[in-house]
Amino acid sequence: MAEEVCPQCGGTGWRIIEREGASGAERCACAITSRIGEIEERAGIPPLYRQASLDNFLLPADNPTANRGLAGVLLMVRSYAREFPASGKPGLLLIGEPGTGKTHLAVAALRILISRGFEGVFFDYQNLLERIRSGYDAASGASDKEAFRAALDAEILLLDDVGAHRVTEWVEDTVTSIITYRCNHRKPVIATTNLPDPDAGFLVTERSAALPGQVEYRVTLGERIGMRARSRLFEMCRVVKMPNVEDYRIRKAR
Ligand SMILES: Nc1ncnc2c1ncn2[C@@H]1O[C@H](COP(=O)(O)OP(=O)(O)OP(=O)(O)O)[C@@H](O)[C@H]1O
Ligand SMILES: [Mg+2]
Ligand SMILES: [Zn+2]
Repeated sequence: MAEEVCPQCGGTGWRIIEREGASGAERCACAITSRIGEIEERAGIPPLYRQASLDNFLLPADNPTANRGLAGVLLMVRSYAREFPASGKPGLLLIGEPGTGKTHLAVAALRILISRGFEGVFFDYQNLLERIRSGYDAASGASDKEAFRAALDAEILLLDDVGAHRVTEWVEDTVTSIITYRCNHRKPVIATTNLPDPDAGFLVTERSAALPGQVEYRVTLGERIGMRARSRLFEMCRVVKMPNVEDYRIRKAR
């Protein structure tokens, strides 16, 4: 079948418009749509999340507390995407337990922003660090320097699963430099993490499984990424605490 040619512009991407007796050229809607498609294509969103949206984020019907909690979160993410780029806090930080929908919501927000004409890239935190590191260790080509540059320069950076990496001085320095650069240039970061943070209302102790009656300390976000990066994330992001809901992956597997 022959590819359909846009009837508005004949495939040129431009339309001639008449305004106040003069004619000029204007971008055709079809060109804008395909540009959005290309940006989404380049954003590097993993296949599992490519269709993630706020509309297909489901609220549990069988648990009123979880339902209310997630509905509140959904509302916050929706207004973030609508009000972007709000002055003050241009970023979004989603904190909560595994499987509660953080990455889904982060991608949904990014996709809304892309559809509004902004550009963004998705990076898995661990993968990004590995790519940057291999770029420094060996002369493994330009691609890994490019990953670092892309993380700095992207109009919007989605950093997924922040802190999911063992701590080394190098990791802390690298994360701090990315976050600091973006913070100084007022460049938004959308981040997710399952590390607790006391300032986001999380308990950082839990009952010990091994030693009854004892408490154990959980590793916090600040411990994993350093206090300087953490401080800047809080400064530039709206913080969304995920409610205590069942892991969606486990729920679905049942
Ligand atoms: N409320 C929901 N409605 C529909 N799909 C959901 C919902 N919550 C999670 N999912 C889906 O379940 C899977 C796991 O969710 P997601 O990856 O967003 O969790 P997460 O909080 O990022 O977990 P982790 O901390 O392990 O990274 C994804 O495929 C996601 O699309
Ligand atoms: Mg995730
Ligand atoms: Zn057209």
